[in-house]
Amino acid sequence: MRRYHLTTFGCQMNAHDSERIKGLLESAGLGEAQSANEADVIVFNTCTIRERADGRFLQHLSNARALKRRDPDRRIIVGGCWSESMKDALFEEHPEVDFAFGPGSIARLGDYIGAGGSLPRGHFSTFDEFAGDLPMRRERPHQAWLQISMGCNSVCSYCIVPSVRGRERSRPWRDLVDEAERLVADGVREITLLGQNVNSYGRDLPVDDRIGFADLIRRLDGIDGLDRLRYTSPHPKDFTADVIAALASCASACEHMHLPLQSGSSRVLKRMRRTYDRDRFVALVGRIRAAIPDIALTTDIIVGFPGESEQDFADTLAVYDEVGFDHAFTFVYSPRRGTEAAAMDDQVADVVKRERVERLVDLVQLHAHRRNAALVGTVQEVLVEGVSRTDSDVGRGRSRGNKTVLFSPPAPEGALVDVRVEAATSQTLRGVALVAARQ
Ligand code: 5AD
Ligand code: SF4
Repeated sequence: MRRYHLTTFGCQMNAHDSERIKGLLESAGLGEAQSANEADVIVFNTCTIRERADGRFLQHLSNARALKRRDPDRRIIVGGCWSESMKDALFEEHPEVDFAFGPGSIARLGDYIGAGGSLPRGHFSTFDEFAGDLPMRRERPHQAWLQISMGCNSVCSYCIVPSVRGRERSRPWRDLVDEAERLVADGVREITLLGQNVNSYGRDLPVDDRIGFADLIRRLDGIDGLDRLRYTSPHPKDFTADVIAALASCASACEHMHLPLQSGSSRVLKRMRRTYDRDRFVALVGRIRAAIPDIALTTDIIVGFPGESEQDFADTLAVYDEVGFDHAFTFVYSPRRGTEAAAMDDQVADVVKRERVERLVDLVQLHAHRRNAALVGTVQEVLVEGVSRTDSDVGRGRSRGNKTVLFSPPAPEGALVDVRVEAATSQTLRGVALVAARQ
């Protein structure tokens, strides 16, 4: 049997696309190889959000090229956002690539394999269809991703994504409910809704069959057997009162929200074209916490956006302190080809960016520890994902607030267990399982 090896870069959207890519390859009769070394078909699902993502992938591609030189029958296939951002120039710069496709045309990979590689080498910018009907090899038995939309209509000046994933398109809500029902019937207890901007869901749907994000949450919440609903990422600008009310009232909607701040300086936010300022963000957090008091908040922050002064950065630290996030992904600003910010002439020096990000990471750790420590003594519902990586007598799972919880005694994967938290670090909670697991 011919074998493939797939390497995935980037976000959860890509991780989910990779489940479809694996499903397609396997339904075409290929088996999975343990390493690229042993594979006949080497596949990459790429990301291009920051320069470092490109760098990591190019390293992998050059290893694949070396393998192909040894065995010219090997095939190299590149999908995902980097691929889309390169378009046909990809083949000029990387002639070793046999086939490439963008995130909107995953199904074309199946056509290519089916045709024995006799099709044109590239498929970009074609939004064929949602991958919802493609075969899928799910990574986890009890947790699943559900793609609700694709693309993004925002124009954040630093971001390359709108140019690679295109305008926003929402999947019809009935397809989503159907897919969610199928997943739940298949043993899934937790679904994470995916989209570049989940809470603007539905605006592009035909008027006579349009629902928004709030109604989508309510309809999915009605599915019997669905214990947990998550979603990523929402945009602060689209948090209507209706969405907050739906999240607060639906039992399955988890008390965790990833709410990208990007910067705490209103001046920088304006140049980023985020369409909210510092005060509106803080007020939004207030409304969310008033409706869902225990909610865990995480965020994304970019340090060193062009023109960011020491005062702007201090504003970011101040907002971070004021909100007291549970955790954050911190990024050093990376100029991306074709974006508005890459052309700004007041780029911040690398040493300054690095020094600032270190200060921010210290603050992130401080609050993470503080927020986790406040949970000591509480009881958290944990969805079991397995055992601790270092001790198989300790169970591992996630709380509704999306924290990693280690507990004993361990319980079967997929069970829901109540855990009394006894200790906390900035990364994990530890505790004791209270009652027999709910299967
Ligand atoms: N440089 C650094 N970080 C970026 N992000 C997006 N574009 C860039 C860039 N050019 C970050 C944002 C976004 C996250 C997915 O990646 O914080 O929310
Ligand atoms: Fe995901 Fe953005 Fe990377 Fe594409 S570029 S894989 S959407 S993080």
